[in-house]
Amino acid sequence: MKKLTALLTALLLMTAALPAFAADAVSSATVNISSLPELRENPDASALVVYFSTDDTVKAVSYTIADALSADVFEILPEIPYAEDDLKYYTNCRADQEQSDSTARPGVLTWPDSLEKYSVVFLGYPIWHGQAPKILYTLLEGIDVSGKTIVPFCTSASSGAGSSARNLQALTDNTAVWLDAKRIDNSSTADDIRSWVLSLGLKEEAAMKMTINDTPVSVAWEDNDSVKALTNLAADGLTIRMSMYGGFEQVGSIGQRLPSHDVQTNTSSGDVVLYSGDQLVVFYGSNSWAYTRLGHITDQTPDQMRSLLGNGDVTITLSID
Ligand SMILES: Cc1cc2nc3c(=O)[nH]c(=O)nc-3n(C[C@H](O)[C@H](O)[C@H](O)COP(=O)(O)O)c2cc1C
Repeated sequence: MKKLTALLTALLLMTAALPAFAADAVSSATVNISSLPELRENPDASALVVYFSTDDTVKAVSYTIADALSADVFEILPEIPYAEDDLKYYTNCRADQEQSDSTARPGVLTWPDSLEKYSVVFLGYPIWHGQAPKILYTLLEGIDVSGKTIVPFCTSASSGAGSSARNLQALTDNTAVWLDAKRIDNSSTADDIRSWVLSLGLKEEAAMKMTINDTPVSVAWEDNDSVKALTNLAADGLTIRMSMYGGFEQVGSIGQRLPSHDVQTNTSSGDVVLYSGDQLVVFYGSNSWAYTRLGHITDQTPDQMRSLLGNGDVTITLSID
């Protein structure tokens, strides 16, 4: 309870102190930041995204990564929140002082309970003077990441990841496997981030296969009960006659209702969603409506999606290997 009160107090302080969301950075990877919790847990997750962010850029990337892998999310909150003046770099502000002090270890407000269930830990941070903020050092000196695969990623105004991840790695024992640090460019889209995550081969794709007319496509399926129900139907082979609609999607009846958890969603090319509980929708353009996400086609460019779906009605088949 004490922990929760401290967390809520810090959150209130942070809300007052945070500068406005940097809308120009990683803009198309952004999700509705204001509605996101600092902690998200899914009982089956084997990956965790741990991040520190003072201006929401790393936060947006973190949730995009977590969505691609159905990973858990944990935000590193500082014991003393950073006020706007603390972050005005090159003014000898608090962040400048911490970065130039090799012994600085800013306090962490709450710690992840246990990393036991995770095999992969994504570690996200902004670049501060060419390095990770010192609070990452506090974190890595305080948790045990032995045996984990660590995937460092960062955002910055322009600098590369440089030696930031190597200096973090030096704080951990040599049973942790560190992948190359990835700087997420400010122009990266959610699709770019998803493609990078999936290219790491950390998660086996579900066994359900999709074919559009005669073209097999790769789908990164969501980990939810709608996809589980669809997978059960696909076990007997499922053929769905689709119709073009609105110049941006094809829609067709699944023939029965699936569990649904509709939320207002901005879709983009390659997204596969459930509409109205019993309709499969695949996008070659974008739309905003209440849907349940089912997956995302990962091996087709927007142009390829348009030529697959934008030239007349198609038939989609779902099957299990
Ligand atoms: C104290 C401080 C130092 C920074 N140093 C650098 C830097 O060396 N190179 C750079 O490209 N950006 C630098 N930046 C910019 C941040 O890396 C960039 O805005 C980042 O995307 C912020 O992530 P966030 O919105 O998740 O906090 C610095 C920002 C701060 C506050």
